[in-house]
Amino acid sequence: MSTPLIIALAIAAIVILGGLVFVTAARKSEVRGAGALSRETKKRDRSAVASAATATGRAYESAATSTSTEVAVLDSVEITEWVAPDPEALGETRRAFFNRATVTLMSASLGAFGASLLGFLWMGSSGGFGSKIAVGKIDDVLQGVKSNKGFMYYPEARAWVTEYPKDSLAKARAVYGSQPAVLAGMEAGVVALYQKCPHLGCRVPDCKSSQWFECGCHGSMYNRVGEKKGGPAPRGMDRFGVAVNNGVLVIDTGAVFGGPPIGVNTTGQEAEGPHCLAAGGGGH
Ligand code: FES
Repeated sequence: MSTPLIIALAIAAIVILGGLVFVTAARKSEVRGAGALSRETKKRDRSAVASAATATGRAYESAATSTSTEVAVLDSVEITEWVAPDPEALGETRRAFFNRATVTLMSASLGAFGASLLGFLWMGSSGGFGSKIAVGKIDDVLQGVKSNKGFMYYPEARAWVTEYPKDSLAKARAVYGSQPAVLAGMEAGVVALYQKCPHLGCRVPDCKSSQWFECGCHGSMYNRVGEKKGGPAPRGMDRFGVAVNNGVLVIDTGAVFGGPPIGVNTTGQEAEGPHCLAAGGGGH
């Protein structure tokens, strides 16, 4: 807002306030004027005081006693009998009150529920798990994976991101062709794996020494791209579709794709060091 406009607005506000003060003061003086006595009234009062002053005490006494003090007695008074309120009518009123209270409470509860639902839906549409989440520029993500020894975790997406080797793409196309959004990520050089173990749902941690995922709950193991290597899990790790928009990696957490069947090993990656779990997996 420009300075002249501010000054003009300030002047207008002062003029309005001044007008209000003036009108209020005028109204006050008018009210005071309304209570003032006219000259005639004052004159009549003065003459009344003068005549009262000339009257003697005896005259006052006789004037007072001349007024009758008898109590007037009425000939007959009609007495109306008291009728108790109709219990049914009272019950009806009470019922109406409770009905109204119930409807009001239900409306308030429904309103609050509706508001919460709208808030929840609004939050879902504005980001968070269940929506498309931009996790950063693809180059930065790949750099992050490297500098974090092969694994990047994105809590908002509940997903692990690891690198998918380019020389395994031919095998990937044969295995993941039915999941184009997953394959698109592999072609961009990444996989986004759902953190939830497909066995019984534990969060699967990475194991930097073996370069696998190793679930501490029952010992399921998966290679770095989430293909099953051991343990009781019925398949490889589930995963999300990804897209690269203007160089930004977006994970679509709105849909979970089932992990590959047991035996799929597109990268051929074996454990690259000691396992984090004592059992070291198994041949399930
Ligand atoms: S929950 Fe992961 S192995 Fe059972």
